[in-house]
Amino acid sequence: MDHPRRIALLGGGQLGRMFIENALRYNVPVDVLDPDPLCPCAQLATRFTQGKFNDRDTVLRFAAEADVVGIEIEHVSTDALEELEQQGKTVIPSPVVLRTIQDKGLQKEFYVRHGIPTAPFALINDAPDMAGHPGLLPAFLKTRTGGYDGKGVMPVDADSRVPGGFTGPFVLEKKIAVDKELAVIAVRGADGTTVAYEPVEMVFDPALNLVDTLLAPARCSEKVAAAARKLAMRVAEAFGAPGIYAVEMFLDRQGELLVNETAPRAHNSGHFTIEACASSQYDQLLRAYMGWPVGDVRMHGAAAMVNLVGDGGTGEPLLAGVRETLGRAGTFIHLYGKHETRNGRKMGHVTVVAPAPEEVDRAVAVVKTHAKVVPAAKPEKQTAK
Ligand SMILES: Nc1ncnc2c1ncn2[C@@H]1O[C@H](COP(=O)(O)OP(=O)(O)O)[C@@H](O)[C@H]1O
Ligand SMILES: [Mg+2]
Repeated sequence: MDHPRRIALLGGGQLGRMFIENALRYNVPVDVLDPDPLCPCAQLATRFTQGKFNDRDTVLRFAAEADVVGIEIEHVSTDALEELEQQGKTVIPSPVVLRTIQDKGLQKEFYVRHGIPTAPFALINDAPDMAGHPGLLPAFLKTRTGGYDGKGVMPVDADSRVPGGFTGPFVLEKKIAVDKELAVIAVRGADGTTVAYEPVEMVFDPALNLVDTLLAPARCSEKVAAAARKLAMRVAEAFGAPGIYAVEMFLDRQGELLVNETAPRAHNSGHFTIEACASSQYDQLLRAYMGWPVGDVRMHGAAAMVNLVGDGGTGEPLLAGVRETLGRAGTFIHLYGKHETRNGRKMGHVTVVAPAPEEVDRAVAVVKTHAKVVPAAKPEKQTAK
């Protein structure tokens, strides 16, 4: 046995927490670095260190004893990751991959270079530069670095006024007539074996601009599903380094698939794999970290994932509707252990697994009606935020 290899994880959010839940089954130690001592991983980590994962020296000190360094958020110090890789540690994702992905402009150029279909775009420094690209409008204006969960993305047309705080450099990307938004998690093993899960369909909440519900497999033809899996595997092969790649795609109204963006880590769109697949995205990641064979991506039945986002204000979180939710067969609750709920904050999710899609839909309706994360007690004074 090659056990145990010590894993150092940058970021202590829910993705890390679900990773640790699985890693514990193999008794693999996982250390976590996060600025927040109350973060979802704080109590589960073998060793928790409070500190900034985007600070080079902090990361180097934190990971000094680890064999493997991983991330659960993209905004980390790549300088530190490069140095740790040079020291001989396994770093997943590879710092080269991460540098490309951290910048949406470099990411788009990467797709073009590798013949991977993506929406037409231009790289511009400032909002007024949009005028030079009338053919791309209407468009989406995206900050090249630092965005997440729709922050840093703005729909624009010819006479849009971009608010002062929204600063470049930007990717200006032609607006696609989207039929469905899909995501596919591709897995590249330590030995180069590449596999992909069933595509999932992301259903957005327009108010929160967050994925609200996710359907797995996506409700599309087998031809589209096969093409989506193949495209995700091409992306993983183009990046060429071990790890997991969550590939977000648009299926446009002509039936073409275009890659939107890739996350080189566990992803919200892969939570369903915990209950609905032989090996979960977290299990795959652990296998990649440890140099073990790739796991089985096959799915049993149909599934959905409903995000539980904070509702009803700020306070200590309480999940309402537990009995109704668990009263359906095949429902699984995940709470991330965040200490404070706020409107729109991701607090947990519910996965539904059933033999047929219709049954999944009925269960989702029950979950969406009853399961809500609310503040436990009304705070004395409601402050507007
Ligand atoms: N070119 C586009 N055409 C149509 N919709 C888009 C386009 N780019 C982004 N969007 C919409 O905006 C969302 C967020 O954009 P994305 O680039 O994925 O940013 P983030 O990094 O915040 O997830 C997408 O999921 C999609 O709904
Ligand atoms: Mg996205």
